[in-house]
This record gives sequence, structure tokens and C-alpha cells, in this order.
Amino acid sequence: MRDELARTGGVAGDAGSTGSGARRPGLLIEGAASIATLAGGLRRGSAQSEVAVIGDGDPAVAVWEGRIVAVGPAQDVHCQIVAAGHSLDDFHRVDAAGGLVTPGLIDAHTHLVFAGTREAEWQLRSHEAGYLEVLAAGGGILATVAATRAASDAELLAAARRRLSEMLANGTTTAEAKSGYGLEVATELRQLGLIGRLDLEGPIQLVATYLGAHAVPAEYRDLPNGTDEYIAHIVRDQLPLVAQQGIARFCDVFCETGVFNPGQAARVLSAAEHYGLKFRIHADELAPSGGAELAAELGCASADHLGAPSEAGIAALARTAEAGYPVVATLLPATSWFLGLHHFAPARRFIEAGIPVALATDLNPGTSPTVSLPLVMSIACVEMSLTPAEALVAVTVNAAHSLGLGADIGSIETGKQADLVLWDVPSIDQLPYWLGTRPAQTVIKRGRVVLERG
Ligand code: NIG
Ligand code: FE
Repeated sequence: MRDELARTGGVAGDAGSTGSGARRPGLLIEGAASIATLAGGLRRGSAQSEVAVIGDGDPAVAVWEGRIVAVGPAQDVHCQIVAAGHSLDDFHRVDAAGGLVTPGLIDAHTHLVFAGTREAEWQLRSHEAGYLEVLAAGGGILATVAATRAASDAELLAAARRRLSEMLANGTTTAEAKSGYGLEVATELRQLGLIGRLDLEGPIQLVATYLGAHAVPAEYRDLPNGTDEYIAHIVRDQLPLVAQQGIARFCDVFCETGVFNPGQAARVLSAAEHYGLKFRIHADELAPSGGAELAAELGCASADHLGAPSEAGIAALARTAEAGYPVVATLLPATSWFLGLHHFAPARRFIEAGIPVALATDLNPGTSPTVSLPLVMSIACVEMSLTPAEALVAVTVNAAHSLGLGADIGSIETGKQADLVLWDVPSIDQLPYWLGTRPAQTVIKRGRVVLERG
């Protein structure tokens, strides 16, 4: 049933379980132990842990035609439904069965569309070579580029659909998805086109990012000034067509010593600005590379990884938050963990500095082959000393803001899109506690039940 629902985009908040078969425009979720609403906007500093829980009075959420219309104690919610001129009979009831209800989780950094696997490289890396050495030898990202260029649309779609189905089972209702395994016009556009198509298929809503500057492709590597030549190709040949295609909302660059330096990254992002794309950036993943500083200078929506930012970079990010145009620090601890690194992004320092923190999977075949945000929350709690509440903020409201979608998703508030997860655990603390399980019981996207377990 789960796979079928995921494939079809689910059923409307219908009366399937009541046997009448009639479609009802409303959905009423009752019987929760508590509802973490995440109401109140982007969080930073001490507010990073504010999950805005409703726990008393049998908490409930009412949804009408895909939007949240009431949230609070069940009695109040019933009154608001009636006051709005509806009948309770117009609402399909969903029982949260004593579990926790949260907004749908938002995975703000994935490389969803790719072909092939790289488990051999993982073993190689754990014994001898580092991640960037494998890339420099023509493997790593470039191995996935070769596999992705060679794959058919049907193969790429089938693999991405499987991943999306598993993401949904882990509570993800919105995800960012990057290109970056084409590194040539045709395959970059093809990846973005497939992301657009998967978004239309649903039920997971996708936000597309163009990442032509993910690595220097084989064709340019041996040219004199190959990296600068490839940047020129991006600006001259790729970006105009990406803009014309109209699917990508963001432009990203892998800004890292040995890949693209801040000057090269800035050339790509400044050109992207001309086409109205917003910025996010792979910054200082492995070493301080000037990425955080550049993210602050250019006003990126998000600076991602930040495994090894400089002091100046942290200070620059903090200044953007103080000035009221915060760059969200999107941390990817599953990547650090899977790479066997002994240092993780300094999440506590970011929070102390007033920088808003988000968490994401970085789903990709090289450094983070996971689809699970609850697992990422677990790693963040263990390795970066986030609390479960801080981690929940990081995969909901803060992730929504990093994607520019804070007005529509990321919290359970009247008027927002009804993206909700009913978990089969009673508390926020138990979400990251059950390591590597899939505790999502029921997933609702735009007011439709799109996954129901059991
Ligand atoms: O975010 N570091 C750059 N990009 C990805 C990894 C991509 C890959 O190795 O295929 C990341 O970790
Ligand atoms: Fe990444």
C-alpha cells in the first residue's frame, strides 16, 4: 500500500477507511500525544530549540483543501471548524494514536538524481585515499558523472523514485535536489528536467538547484587553465540554457580548496544572479576554503557543510544574522560520519553565534548514501551535541527558510500548506533516539494522506 500511495501521489483526505468512498475536503487529526507546531518563523541562538509544542487538551489539527485551518486543543478546533461554516462530517478523521505530530520534514540538500553506486571507493577511502584524492584521480564525483551521462531517463527516474519513496517513509515531504552529475549542457538540463518531472509527480515537493560547478569534468581537466575554462563554459553555455529551462531556483558551487576557489565560485554565482537564481553553496566541507566568507558576502540563502569553517567565516555568517539577512548554516553530519572524519561542523558554535542551523541528508552516492532525516538528526545529536528539539527545528522551519519557502511550509500554522507527519513515537526526544528506524506512521502532503503504515 505504501508504495502504491507514494507512486500515485496518494489519495485525498478521503473516506477510504470509513468505506463510503466519498472524497472529503477536510482532514482532522486527533489523538496525538503532542503537536510540535514549530510556529514562529526562522530560529537562531537560544530560539533554535523552540518547537512550540501543544500538549494539553487533546491537541488537534484541521485541514481544509490542503491548507491548515485550525490547530490547538480539539474542542477549540471543532469550534473553529463550525464557526467557519463547515460540518465535522466534511472531515476525514485521522487518529495519531498517541504519537507525536510534526510538520513534514524538509531535506534542504540532496543530490537526488544520479546513476550508479560507489561502495568500492568507500572501502578505498577508509584505507588509503582521501575524498579529494579520489576525485583528483578521476573517480569520486567524476565516476558518478560518467554513470549519469550514460544512464537513460527511465533509469534515472526509476532510481530517483525509489529514493523518494524511502524519503517519504522517513517523513520527508519537501526536498531540494541538485544537478551536478552532468557537467555538460545536455546532462545538466536532463537532470533538472527530471527533477521538475518528479516534482510534478509528487507527492514529495522538490526544489531544483543547478550545480554545474560541482567538479571540473574530464574534458577540461587536462587543459591549461582547465578550471577557469570550465567556469567560462558554465557562464557562457550552461547558465543561459538552465535559466531558459526555468526549473532551477538556486545555483550552487562546490567551493573547496582543490575544487573551485572563492573567486571562481563568485564568478558562477554572480552570473547566476543575472538570471534571477538564488544562491546556496557547498562551503568549507573539508578545510577552511573561504566558502563561509563568500556565502556571507554574496548573501547566499544557505551555506552547506561548514565542516571546517575559519573563525572569520563564522564571524561573517553571524554578522549576516545580526544584520537581518541570515545565511542559514545547513549542516550535513551524515557526510562527515560516512567519510570517517573526526571533526564535525561546529554546530554549537553556530548556535551560540546566533547563526540559524538547518540539517540535511546530502543524499548522494559518494559521501552520504542515506535518505533519512531522522538518522541525520541522530548523528547531529550524538556528534554535534544538538538537542532533539534543535535538530527538529533544523529539519523543519529553518530548512524551509533556507529554501525560501518559510511562508508556506515548515510549521503547523493556520494558512500554511498541510504537510504533516504522524510519528509512532510519543515525544521529540524519541525521534533521534530510535537509530536508523522509520518511525513515520502517516504522512500527509498538501492535505492528502500519502503514506500510511500498517
Ligand atoms: O556534498 N562535496 C561535494 N558534493 C557532494 C558529494 C558528491 C559526491 O561525492 O558524489 C557532497 O558531499
Ligand atoms: Fe552535497
